[in-house]
Amino acid sequence: MNTYIGIDLGTSGAKFLLVAADGTILAENTQTYPVSYPQSGWSEQNPEDWFAATLRGLKELLAGQEKSLVKGISFGGQMHGLVVLDREDNVIRPAILWNDGRTEEETRYLNEVVGKDKLSAWTGNIAFAGFTAPKLLWLKKHEPENFARISKIMLPKDYLAYKLSGAFSTELSDASGMLLLDVKNRRWSPEMCEICGISEQMLPRLHESYEVVGTLKAKIAAELGLKGVKVIAGAGDNAAAAVGTGVVGEGGCNISLGTSGTLFVSSEAYKEDKINALHSFCHADGGWHLMGCILSAASCNSWWSDHILQTTDYAAEQAGLEEFLGRNDVFFLPYLMGERSPHNDVTARGAFIGMRPDTTRGQMTLAVLEGVVFALRDCMEAAKKNGARIARTKLCGGGAKSKLWRKIVANVMNMPVDIPQTEQGPGFGAAMLAMVGCGEYGSVQEAASAIVRVRETVMPDKQIAADYEVRYRHFTKLYPALKGLF
Ligand code: XUL
Repeated sequence: MNTYIGIDLGTSGAKFLLVAADGTILAENTQTYPVSYPQSGWSEQNPEDWFAATLRGLKELLAGQEKSLVKGISFGGQMHGLVVLDREDNVIRPAILWNDGRTEEETRYLNEVVGKDKLSAWTGNIAFAGFTAPKLLWLKKHEPENFARISKIMLPKDYLAYKLSGAFSTELSDASGMLLLDVKNRRWSPEMCEICGISEQMLPRLHESYEVVGTLKAKIAAELGLKGVKVIAGAGDNAAAAVGTGVVGEGGCNISLGTSGTLFVSSEAYKEDKINALHSFCHADGGWHLMGCILSAASCNSWWSDHILQTTDYAAEQAGLEEFLGRNDVFFLPYLMGERSPHNDVTARGAFIGMRPDTTRGQMTLAVLEGVVFALRDCMEAAKKNGARIARTKLCGGGAKSKLWRKIVANVMNMPVDIPQTEQGPGFGAAMLAMVGCGEYGSVQEAASAIVRVRETVMPDKQIAADYEVRYRHFTKLYPALKGLF
């Protein structure tokens, strides 16, 4: 049976999956690389680290596997990052990542001087600090010598596709998050290019996510022992995750608990968010989606456990906390890197509220997990205000491994939560896009119904959900009360 490689180019590391055409995961590999925070609220990574990790990851993934069966490779990539190359294809500066908040001034200029109405008409979205266009404006103002050297602008996973195949390409789901794409008409926006002072030639060629963009370069293929492997465009990690959890076509919902947290609602038709809390982006299945993104999700838990409690034994920290579901006194605001949806506030920061002398370490751990889900509930409410009817959701990402966190999601959202066979949404979705690109399946929808399986459904509990409803109402009052004080 043919096999396919899915690469999830994340923020804490890259994950590599080798998947058979029937959806069986044959091998997995993870490689990590550093993030640098050169100033408060900034975050950067070196694109060359991603590529080095990819070569290492692919080598380790394929060790002992039948290499002649590998037909295609694709990507789910961290979105919005600005990667710039000069005429000789040198990386000009470190990539400015999706959760970098340095563009407050540029974001305000776009939303208030250019105007939200115009931005929405041209791109389907308003400006959020993590988007790529404000970063270009920042570069133009603060590093004019770097801006002047730009020959190619690309997104993180597109850098990998370029290095692996030589194709300067992107696709619509990830390009949507640049604020340079006319999302409704699936083409670059000439107005936004002009505002950012760039030409369309600097932008990659647009594809659908499941289209072939090239073939693995001969030298790399020889190093890996591969032959004639096709490179497929791929998707932004959230669209790839939605594919991987089978959230395609009309009205599906996926929640991802990764470094970021997202709520993703798929649709066949283009929709704009009338309250400007969510993003309106192209989907990897040829349709569209609305998405809310919170900047710190599983990263709140790793901050709290790894850095503060000094332990990585998450299961031990979460043991015995189930009895407090819906009854915790402590609140946590998860805005460690500022917040995207729905607040669009780079200055927001995290907070613990409501401790007493008898508050335990466990209750604070629980508050962290709950705070993340309350913030995602804000996104759910925004989706509902936009007319989405969501009766159940899929759940993926590293956080979905926690039984406790799954229960919190089911009860805070008050809906059944379907856990797919693998929590590795983006990598699995990327492999599925490669399958479609290589003709294994006729469409993304067909691949999803053939190979995505739900392993378990977590049901809400009536009493706990009612308790969480009250707690959520209180949660919604905290950010407005603290806004401006951070
Ligand atoms: C989505 C977003 C994040 C990153 C994380 O808009 O910024 O989910 O894609 O990798």
